[in-house]
Amino acid sequence: MGKGIFVTATGTDMGKTYVTALVVKKLKDAGYLSGYYKAALSGAEDIAGSDAGYVKKTAGISQSDETLLSYLYKTAVSPHLAARLEGNPVDIHKVREDFRRVMECHDYVTVEGSGGIVCPIRWDDKEKLLLEDVIKALKIPTLLVADAGLGTINSVVLTVEYLKKKGIGVKGVILNHYKGGTMQEDNIRMIEELTKLPVLALVPEGAMELEMDAETLASLYE
Ligand SMILES: Nc1ncnc2c1ncn2[C@@H]1O[C@H](COP(=O)(O)OP(=O)(O)OP(=O)(O)O)[C@@H](O)[C@H]1O
Ligand SMILES: [Mg+2]
Repeated sequence: MGKGIFVTATGTDMGKTYVTALVVKKLKDAGYLSGYYKAALSGAEDIAGSDAGYVKKTAGISQSDETLLSYLYKTAVSPHLAARLEGNPVDIHKVREDFRRVMECHDYVTVEGSGGIVCPIRWDDKEKLLLEDVIKALKIPTLLVADAGLGTINSVVLTVEYLKKKGIGVKGVILNHYKGGTMQEDNIRMIEELTKLPVLALVPEGAMELEMDAETLASLYE
């Protein structure tokens, strides 16, 4: 049985998919059986054109398409609304089972979340699920992707406090679109001081590799 980590972010479009691809690639290049999973994805026509297809291609993993993802909605809205419009709402039992299957045949499974941390996954008369319910069902800790620039101290601290309040573990922060300079360097220091979490890696624009030791990365998975 493999180990997993859940990649969340301070908001949508922060670079979860971009960073996840680098994470999956790093572990694969280090010789591990590196896998990907996403419970629910919206705004794509098919798997190849989705976050899952991007990660598979960029990381160069050979995992079969149908195991990368449990639910795909075409409408580019939160999964709960997409399911209201298109049908096929998320069943948490299926998510748990699909994830278990990916864990069975990989050493390290990187799971990508949807949106930011407060993201409704299913909201109907039968069931109400938020992203945090998915994380808890998978029983894995999180990694937080955030922008390196202005405003990130606020978004990171709020997200970390929310995760802590929900009893979800956070292993550290990865800052995306990193340019350096006084403000961004201070953001690293302030995030570490205020959250007591490490900033694990800095990802510049167009990065092709994650600047982080593969063993350290692997040690975060549970
Ligand atoms: N470091 C980077 N260098 C270049 N492009 C980037 C970088 N990070 C993100 N991007 C681009 O920014 C856009 C948003 O990133 P991405 O799709 O990874 O965000 P996301 O958090 O996965 O979004 P969603 O919430 O829709 O899943 C994409 O077009 C991606 O290629
Ligand atoms: Mg994404």
